[in-house]
Amino acid sequence: MAQNLDALRLALQHSPDNAPLLMLLADGCLEDGLVDEAEQSFQRVLSHDPAHAEARLGLARVAFLQGKPSQAAVRAEQILSDTPACAAAYLLLARIHITENDLTRARAMYDKGVALNRSLADPGIEKDLHGIKPASDDDSGRKRAAITSSGSHIESANGDKSDEDDSHPRGGTAFDLGLADFEKPKLNFAGVGGMEALKEEIRMKIIYPLQHAELFKAYDKKIGGGVLLYGPPGVGKTLISKATAGEIKANFIALGLHQILDMWIGNSEKNMHEVFELARQNAPSILFFDEVDALAADRRDLRQSAGRNLINAFLSEMDGAESDNDGVLIIGATNAPWHIDPAFRRPGRFDRTIFVPPPDEGGRAAIIEVMARKKPIGELDPHALAKKTDGFSGADIKAVFDLATEEVLNHAMKTGKVIPLTTKDLIKAASRHKPTTKAWFESAKNYAMYSNQSGFYDDVLKHLGLLKR
Ligand SMILES: Nc1ncnc2c1ncn2[C@@H]1O[C@H](COP(=O)(O)OP(=O)(O)OP(=O)(O)O)[C@@H](O)[C@H]1O
Ligand SMILES: [Mg+2]
Repeated sequence: MAQNLDALRLALQHSPDNAPLLMLLADGCLEDGLVDEAEQSFQRVLSHDPAHAEARLGLARVAFLQGKPSQAAVRAEQILSDTPACAAAYLLLARIHITENDLTRARAMYDKGVALNRSLADPGIEKDLHGIKPASDDDSGRKRAAITSSGSHIESANGDKSDEDDSHPRGGTAFDLGLADFEKPKLNFAGVGGMEALKEEIRMKIIYPLQHAELFKAYDKKIGGGVLLYGPPGVGKTLISKATAGEIKANFIALGLHQILDMWIGNSEKNMHEVFELARQNAPSILFFDEVDALAADRRDLRQSAGRNLINAFLSEMDGAESDNDGVLIIGATNAPWHIDPAFRRPGRFDRTIFVPPPDEGGRAAIIEVMARKKPIGELDPHALAKKTDGFSGADIKAVFDLATEEVLNHAMKTGKVIPLTTKDLIKAASRHKPTTKAWFESAKNYAMYSNQSGFYDDVLKHLGLLKR
């Protein structure tokens, strides 16, 4: 952006009162956090055209960013009294109310803004407001109508679904779908330790195709479709999927086992459609199905029954039969790839497969460093610990840190002082923890040796040294 800003500044030297250029510069400055310069640019626009709605809104946003919420709110309200359909002003008010912890009003403002302009729907705000009902909603708890992503209304009976499960709140817009996650992740590859080969593979198979969509179109090659990540438990499949979204600044919409099972029980192909619609409307997005074997398992008995509708709905959404999946990448993760029905691996579906191995020694050292950032550490020799943790997954290493922390905390509580963790504590904890990936490889080896159709498990065999690289 900095380069673009320089070009704009230069252009403005020649045409200092050009309002569109000034607006571009101001918006660019806001994006880059150059709040003061943005303010000056908005003011220059207003000095020529005091009614310029976007510039007025710009000043309101500037005030908000400068930590003056009341001034920002007054400005936004003035805009709305002149231009009642200014959706962005409602969204700003929603943000202001959120920082003031007035979530009911925030919800009201947000809903008004999004009703005026659906493209302004903001996953971040939605997350803050999930579970908050609009003030006008006087439902008595029996039935709740919620506006879903596509603007249609879905009704969910409240009585048959316990609301006690706070981890999956159901109130409000997207969260009526009970998503496990919906956000633009801050996590990117830098926050994931090691996994260099995997990151490169993801760049080649996922990121570059998305970034060079025109090239692929020129060769009439379809992008999109799905990628299946498989590997032992705890090796970071979920983590790397989220980081991939963060890496390309895409929205991350995740369904976990709970949501998938809920759909099975409710036989809800309509919800499946809503989830895909949400991803399409928020493109570029990554739609992540964790433990996808819950959905894609080769269970012919179920496929004959009512559950068949759900599977068919999923497959036809994936094929994009009725809608365009441009800019939507579907990632499925599983540690039981052998249960995945081959129908799910046809072209255009999960047609790319990536094996996520446990970290090698260098990878473990990198993960150890990432994890150590959050703890009080005395001296740390990541390589020494990495040497002692062969076969450990990322989750195993996390368990080692937890064990060691507990131990040190016990001492700390006695003395009342923070005692830093040391390499020795961690190595001791590692000796008490059994790595969890070995059992997985025992099963995987059987499938890889005896049902390795079209080389599906070649990477597993290579990892085990049973196939030459
Ligand atoms: N490369 C890594 N860098 C940092 N932390 C990691 C890494 N790999 C795993 N972890 C840690 O291990 C935890 C488990 O990882 P994650 O849930 O992504 O594994 P998974 O492969 O999806 O496991 P499962 O198959 O059980 O779903 C993460 O929350 C994280 O704390
Ligand atoms: Mg996972």
